[in-house]
Amino acid sequence: MARVAIVTGGTRGIGEAISLALKDAGMTVAANYAGNDERARAFTERTGIAAFKWDVSDYEACQAGCAQVAEQLGPIDVLVNNAGITRDGTIMKLSYEAWKEVIDTNLGGCFNMAKGVFPGMRDRKWGRIVNIGSINGQAGQYGQVNYAAAKSGIHGFTKALAQEGARAGVTVNAIAPGYIDTDMVAAVPADVLEKIVAKIPVGRLGQASEIARGVAFLCSEEGGFVTGSTLSINGGQHMY
Ligand code: CAA
Repeated sequence: MARVAIVTGGTRGIGEAISLALKDAGMTVAANYAGNDERARAFTERTGIAAFKWDVSDYEACQAGCAQVAEQLGPIDVLVNNAGITRDGTIMKLSYEAWKEVIDTNLGGCFNMAKGVFPGMRDRKWGRIVNIGSINGQAGQYGQVNYAAAKSGIHGFTKALAQEGARAGVTVNAIAPGYIDTDMVAAVPADVLEKIVAKIPVGRLGQASEIARGVAFLCSEEGGFVTGSTLSINGGQHMY
């Protein structure tokens, strides 16, 4: 039986590339999305991958979503917590809502989804969870106290849950992408982005497929001895 994977935010950007990579690896993929029905429909038509709509910041919706995927596709073996948003602004301008929305979606979503799949993975003694962090969670970023805090939290969440899953065959890892050529990065003002790209040693933005290859490895059978780790894929922009 093919492994069943959920990719949150899986119909666009990095998530779309991850959904495709896991499908190519022979998995049955459920791509979750929150709002953009049109893009989700086009994604399903193009790829044949089923899309499921729920908001990862909503705990109950995540439990219902996981149950629905399990009922339609089978027990969930793989979770990729990719869904994320930005609400950039310096703290002088950042509203409480912009803080809370980013924390609840980017970090809260990881908890909400893990609660939906971890017990089953543990019972079946096999699971793969990959959380998408960020270079900006590792290094900080001007104008992103909300996003950097959430992504940094993801790295801690990963290491803690990895310890809980290790004996039960459930690996938990993070990937920390740098600046990738997606709608999210395209929203950064052009002059600001130019300065950021100038600091990337490889000299270009990354491609979503370059993140997806890393996810596919961490989700593979061969990845079973890798847990609690963070794979930085950032063109050399932040090395540590
Ligand atoms: N370091 C120091 N000072 C900086 C700075 C920096 N990196 N960036 C801006 N400043 C300064 C400016 O020079 C300016 O100073 P003066 O007032 O003295 O001229 C002041 O801060 C205000 O700057 P802005 O005019 O840019 O302020 P703004 O309020 O219009 O915009 C901002 C602020 C929204 C943060 C904008 O600079 C921005 O969008 N920055 C990019 C943030 C970013 O990288 N987001 C990443 C999104 S993609 C992503 O997050 C994916 C991922 O995981 C990598």
